[in-house]
Amino acid sequence: MYAISAQVNDVGVVKVPLLPAPSFELDTETIYNALSEQSNIEMVCICSPGNPTGSTVRKEDVNKILSHPTWNGVVILEETYIDYSSKTTSLAEWVTEWQNSVIVQTLSKSFSIASIRLRAAFTTTPVTHLLRNLSITYNIPSPTVIFTKYALTSGLVIMADNVVKTAEERYRHEISRRGSWMPWVSAYYHCHGRRGGKLSSSVELDAERSA
Ligand SMILES: Cc1ncc(COP(=O)(O)O)c(C=O)c1O
Repeated sequence: MYAISAQVNDVGVVKVPLLPAPSFELDTETIYNALSEQSNIEMVCICSPGNPTGSTVRKEDVNKILSHPTWNGVVILEETYIDYSSKTTSLAEWVTEWQNSVIVQTLSKSFSIASIRLRAAFTTTPVTHLLRNLSITYNIPSPTVIFTKYALTSGLVIMADNVVKTAEERYRHEISRRGSWMPWVSAYYHCHGRRGGKLSSSVELDAERSA
């Protein structure tokens, strides 16, 4: 997405592939070296959790990039899929510590309201002013504001439910994939609901091993 926007705006891109599976970690050393050698790089965009890897970046890797001694550009942390991750994964609170960080989230995934086209950036006051100067006036339509207010209040329960359903679906897919090497699994059932006040889900297997 960022690479396409860069291309449309005639901005050069330095691509640094993730480390190979199964870690899919950031290649921090290559990023670090690129920032040392190419002073014209202005932004580093990192997606966490990644699409399609699903892996979250290690906080110490982001920290290393943010603390680069000579480079003073902006680090964009794309947290589009953050609600599917653990609560402690988001680095949104780092904006109070790092002047050059921008954390981006969206209502289009876990909230399932992609059509309102709302993304949120958490950042410092100077970067906010910069973004305001770049954006067009009245760039958020009123229907979007109405939906957003609902989504971030009553809609939070729906969002939590969506996250459970997605995890469940992923589990179902995993089980059916494993069916090929667990032939004794003949059926499975999903159960989801509230246990002890928390949304939860489980999968029950009907298993029969032949002697
Ligand atoms: C990593 C990533 N960033 C951004 C987007 C777009 O999000 P939005 O719907 O908020 O534009 C997507 C997918 O749709 C995505 O996979």
